Amino acid sequence: MILIINYGSQVTHLIKRRLRGLGVEATIKQPEQVADADFITNDAFILSGGPESVSSQTVLNKKIFTSDKPILGLCFGHQLIAQEFGGAVEQSKTRQYGAAKLTVLDKTDLFAGLDEEQMVWMSHGDSVSELPKQFRVIGKSEDCNHVAIAHYEKKIFGLQFHPEVEHTKNGTQILHNFVKIAGIKPTLTVRNRIQTIITDIQTNVGNASVIMGVSGGVDSLVASYLLHQAIGDHLFCVYVDTGLMRKEETQEVQTIYDTLQFSHFAVVNASELFLKKLYYIADPEEKRKIIGHTFIEIFESTVGKYAQQNKKIQFLGQGTIYPDRVESSQATNSSAKIKSHHNLTLPENMKLKVVEPLRDLYKDEVRQLGKELGINEDYLNRHPFPGPGLAIRVVGPIDKEKIDIVRQADHIFITELKKANLYKDVWQALVALLPIKTVGVMGDARTYEYMISLRAVTSSDAMSADWAKLPNDFLQMVSNKIINLVSGVNRVVYDITQKPPGTIEYE
Ligand code: XMP
Repeated sequence: MILIINYGSQVTHLIKRRLRGLGVEATIKQPEQVADADFITNDAFILSGGPESVSSQTVLNKKIFTSDKPILGLCFGHQLIAQEFGGAVEQSKTRQYGAAKLTVLDKTDLFAGLDEEQMVWMSHGDSVSELPKQFRVIGKSEDCNHVAIAHYEKKIFGLQFHPEVEHTKNGTQILHNFVKIAGIKPTLTVRNRIQTIITDIQTNVGNASVIMGVSGGVDSLVASYLLHQAIGDHLFCVYVDTGLMRKEETQEVQTIYDTLQFSHFAVVNASELFLKKLYYIADPEEKRKIIGHTFIEIFESTVGKYAQQNKKIQFLGQGTIYPDRVESSQATNSSAKIKSHHNLTLPENMKLKVVEPLRDLYKDEVRQLGKELGINEDYLNRHPFPGPGLAIRVVGPIDKEKIDIVRQADHIFITELKKANLYKDVWQALVALLPIKTVGVMGDARTYEYMISLRAVTSSDAMSADWAKLPNDFLQMVSNKIINLVSGVNRVVYDITQKPPGTIEYE
């Protein structure tokens, strides 16, 4: 077991997730929660990154260094180790965000099996300017001489970069090497994770019933499937047509739930209500809040209807996964809020208790679970689609015309990706309407219409993402089709922003 001490990085949970992928169990604790007993029960420690600069105020239980167990510090954690052992940490001349080249100086231990040159992901303002005495430099970059440091006798390592982020090409190998150094044997499997989730649901829910909002997305599908396995016909799936869905989505979702033989599946058409409440709302957080609250209103009234049939529902099931919680800042109390995913903006007076079977998992792990459960891979490989739907892809004020434009353009983009056999190569593809009108010319006449942005990204967990390098002729064909077939659009752009600094959705 590894203890991860969290200093507030946005990606701390990815460390746990990478270790889980290696079959190794880990827990995350805030520095002030770490107790002396933790140094006995755990086999190794990882100090995470964090947004602050190290200072004498930084909370660190010094017993960690006398525990004689391996320690790995990442970014802030690396600086903390350097400071603790008498090195110096200073603000770098240039802050570094993004890819950097690491030169490996020692290909044993932590870097075993790696080539001399490695692409790594940096995100820091400070760096280690002076090496602590007992340490050796095992890796450097152009901008920094102390990117990777090691105290071999004590098995203490520090890395300025983030091996847990997928942009660090061999990050998992580095973590694997650390696990090996710590002598930890893998024990976690997908099967025993499923069993743990099912047992947890049964313990938590007991004999009560659960209403589950489903969207046809992979998260709510796998979450509801697990709930169904756990509580059978005590699960009531409800699909709300918000009017913010993709073209033909409702029919597709109906087919999926019929095929998987869920005991109860109902469709509620509430598109008018949603569009009325959202009319001309521009702020993304307000959109999410309105949508989240309207969902709950509908669920509560549906629960009322079930109650009349003597079905007592006490829980609301949700397909929330870990990245939703991170960005909504519910993962830790020291990281910044990026956006509140709608399934987290529940009203305080909500009468239902929440059950979230996937709350600690990432999308690819959800797919793994789904596969192990025997769910059709076509369902599992659908691109993610956010709960607030097209509302957060119309940038700025919403109205029905703009939603319709996005829906049509989205249908063209997704259909063409599938036809060109590119759909599976992309993590998520979407269309956003930018609230800008530009001049064009069509049929010899002047046009003044909206701009559509196409976004397609590759990722493995949505925590970070790269723009998909779709072929130019494909993009040109999609652009032509959208301009020709979707009235109200005269310009199409392709988004080449990575995440970070961008996000995947526009709002
Ligand atoms: P961002 O835009 O935050 O998206 O980079 C990361 C992943 O989360 C999805 N997403 C949402 N899902 N409710 C959801 O259920 C939301 O409010 C929401 N916002 C973003 C997004 O589609 C992507 O897969």
